[in-house]
Amino acid sequence: MASTKLIVVVGATGNQGGSVADVFLSTPGWRVRALTRNPSSAKAKALASRGAEVVAADMDVPSTLEPALQGANAVFLVSDFWGLYGDPANKDKAKPGQPLNVWAADHEVQQLKNVIDIVAKLPTLERFVYSSLSNATRWSFGKYTHVYHFDSKARAEDYARETYPDLWAKTSIFQAGWFLSNFIVNPILEFVKEDDGVARFTGNLDVDVKFPFIAAEEDSGPFVKALVEEPAGKNVIAYREWLTIREVAAILSQVIGIPTEAVQLPKGQSKVTEPAELKLELDDNFAYWSEYGYEGRADPTIIHPRDLPTLGKLDTVFNYFKKQDWTKLKA
Ligand SMILES: NC(=O)c1ccc[n+]([C@@H]2O[C@H](COP(=O)([O-])OP(=O)(O)OC[C@H]3O[C@@H](n4cnc5c(N)ncnc54)[C@H](OP(=O)(O)O)[C@@H]3O)[C@@H](O)[C@H]2O)c1
Repeated sequence: MASTKLIVVVGATGNQGGSVADVFLSTPGWRVRALTRNPSSAKAKALASRGAEVVAADMDVPSTLEPALQGANAVFLVSDFWGLYGDPANKDKAKPGQPLNVWAADHEVQQLKNVIDIVAKLPTLERFVYSSLSNATRWSFGKYTHVYHFDSKARAEDYARETYPDLWAKTSIFQAGWFLSNFIVNPILEFVKEDDGVARFTGNLDVDVKFPFIAAEEDSGPFVKALVEEPAGKNVIAYREWLTIREVAAILSQVIGIPTEAVQLPKGQSKVTEPAELKLELDDNFAYWSEYGYEGRADPTIIHPRDLPTLGKLDTVFNYFKKQDWTKLKA
């Protein structure tokens, strides 16, 4: 029997990891081990029914990770800042005076380190693909220091690079662009149809700056496959199209057949009003993206999809929007 390689996917029941599992489940020569805290969830069962080996593991509990990662030829690792921040079970976990998002970021770093410490010692490992985001504090040159959910991933990335040179030699970085699903499921980022019949995106972003847009649940797999197959040492900002918000609005207008508009709020006005810690984080977040680029454009190591020779053609934003339910805007 021909031997197959094993990819272990952390976060396999989520957007990014789900796409990675999908792609490797249909790639000859590979088998998939999907890690989850809850093997009996519908998503975990669906993965099992398609041939994945579903294994219980928790990033908070290293003793569960150790066996779950054994034998991996490749590992994909993604963490979930917003899950930590939004979980009611965590609402009292911050120290006195510590904002909850600062706690969530520190906790996310610890979870990532728990996995990295084990991955670094895997004798079978050939490739580690780490889902990171740009270091907003570093690439804004100290101007925006509250983009905790970006900096946390970059801090754990620094830890891996500095602590484990041998692991680093086998590592590539996948930076997921801005999820297109935000326009559908995120109240802060959705288009709203106003009384004049126009569907508006209103926010603090510069509507004429280009951003990397990805359908994370469809595109992450093809990117990670390319990063597994190509030599290590890449740091890709992953997107299907590089668009301004104004251009996104124009595409949406074509899809839903009503006028749309992208509006930047005047300086000093904020889309988010509470809680205070989230307002600080998101105000910094949007200002950082607008001024310094989502991917931290000063980072000299960033590469783009066109720099991955084995990455096939991805679908379009138009087609992604066409598949979504826009009843609320059309009504
Ligand atoms: N929204 C955006 O535009 C955007 C853009 C770039 C990056 N991001 C980042 O994307 C990340 C989330 O990724 P996603 O959307 O792919 O995930 P997701 O769909 O939110 O799902 C979270 C995944 O993490 C797993 N997970 C959570 N806590 C775990 C733990 N303690 N141990 C093991 N597994 C755990 C969950 O597995 P189980 O529940 O099955 O255990 C699930 O598979 C966030 O950190 C966010 O900052 C978001």
